[in-house]
Amino acid sequence: MLYIGVDLGTSAVKLLLMDGEGKILNIVSKEYPLRFPHPGWSEQDPADWMRQTTAGIRELTEGFDKSQVAGIGCGGQMHGLVALDEDDNVLRPAILWNDGRTAEEVEYLNNVVGREKLSQYTANIAFAGFTAPKLLWMKKHEPDLFARIAKIMLPKDYVNYMLTGVHCTDVSDASGMLLFDVEHKCWSKEMLDICSLREDQMARIFESFQVVGTLKPEIAKELGLPQTVKVCAGAGDNAAAAVGTGTVGEGGCNISLGTSGTIFISSKKFGVDPNNALHAFAHADGNYHLMGCMLSAASCNKWWMDDIIGTTDYPAEQKPITDEKLGTNHVFFLPYLMGERSPINDTDARGCFVGLTMDNSRSDMTQAVLEGVAYGIRDCLEVARSLGVDVRKSRICGGGAKSPLWRKIIANVCDIELELIESEEGPGYGGAMLAAVACGEYASVEEAAGKLVKVVGTVEPDPAIAARYEKQYRKFQKIYPAMKDLFPALNG
Ligand code: XUL
Repeated sequence: MLYIGVDLGTSAVKLLLMDGEGKILNIVSKEYPLRFPHPGWSEQDPADWMRQTTAGIRELTEGFDKSQVAGIGCGGQMHGLVALDEDDNVLRPAILWNDGRTAEEVEYLNNVVGREKLSQYTANIAFAGFTAPKLLWMKKHEPDLFARIAKIMLPKDYVNYMLTGVHCTDVSDASGMLLFDVEHKCWSKEMLDICSLREDQMARIFESFQVVGTLKPEIAKELGLPQTVKVCAGAGDNAAAAVGTGTVGEGGCNISLGTSGTIFISSKKFGVDPNNALHAFAHADGNYHLMGCMLSAASCNKWWMDDIIGTTDYPAEQKPITDEKLGTNHVFFLPYLMGERSPINDTDARGCFVGLTMDNSRSDMTQAVLEGVAYGIRDCLEVARSLGVDVRKSRICGGGAKSPLWRKIIANVCDIELELIESEEGPGYGGAMLAAVACGEYASVEEAAGKLVKVVGTVEPDPAIAARYEKQYRKFQKIYPAMKDLFPALNG
């Protein structure tokens, strides 16, 4: 049988076709616009996701035996608010995971309702990108639209709804709404009250590998697929990527260098970071995970390369950055181009280069960008280490992970071994694997991961480089605290 994995990302939807043995037969990518209507805001039109996903599925399956397609699984950008009216029409553009408009609502939730209560109800505190603060923002700024909300969906759940007609979500994505009791895997009545919501406005909750429905007849016809194709609940993109890299069960670690940068630690036990700097979410394998999320990771490098330097030849820019240069750069970069989530939770934070001198070259600045993101990942890793989580190695995926230099920098800054996976298609591959489990091809997500995910190489830290980076990281750690109070004034 064949399975379709959908990675509903921030800049594009990436789709892959996988056979029952995990072989990738085809990959298609379709872009859509991302809008920043005000500085720090980030929106997308759900109709674009749907248009490109259906076009992508048609292109993906062209020339293959469509009668063999058994399942579809989607890993989607998390936290985005899709509000539907009673006729299931989208009420306003989706407010995305990297939108920073809710500073006031976050302040209210964390300091008036209180972090302890939020953590007790949901295992997490409020961050600007989470869904609950966005609903409070809508209630205040768009009260007429808020009053018309009949269903609240997340991005990939909207796509699943359009495919099947079922208002569904999965435990991993629901975890990022701040409306979900992560430990008990149900909606939090307290949080619904705090946000003036009713349970009937919420989607039905599934485990990621469960079937939510089959294709609606008109959609099956449009896609040229059998109506019997099963759609599984899927997962938030990080949980899906973790499945796709085999980061399941106890103690796995995955680093994703996509638009966002995440470090994802899987666990069989439910656990909360007492300081809530790391998110405590449910995992797509039926268990739990801790996660740190940087709002700008590969997007920092893309911004620097495409928009500032004006090149698409990333390898050529990285070529002058040789081993002797690693850990010796006196230029530092704060990667907070969209504010920052983990661990500092600061919507006012901004990107900056620090430490420039007349002798600095463009490649020192390129290096600083790559290093700044690596230090941000290390910040999250340090929180995990402070909780007693002993991370010695990690898998890595996402567009940024294609750069051998960036992988080397991450391995040395974090002083961990990186394992490279045969398929770099983290969320899409994970989505297809979840669909395969949902269709009974594998008994569990862990079994599918054990059979399908292959480690094809490793990046070991070099003791000399890692020692140099240790000193550099101590310097980096001093920059944000020194700048912190300046940012609100600069932004004002
Ligand atoms: C995770 C997060 C991002 C998005 C990116 O909490 O906000 O990783 O899921 O798509």
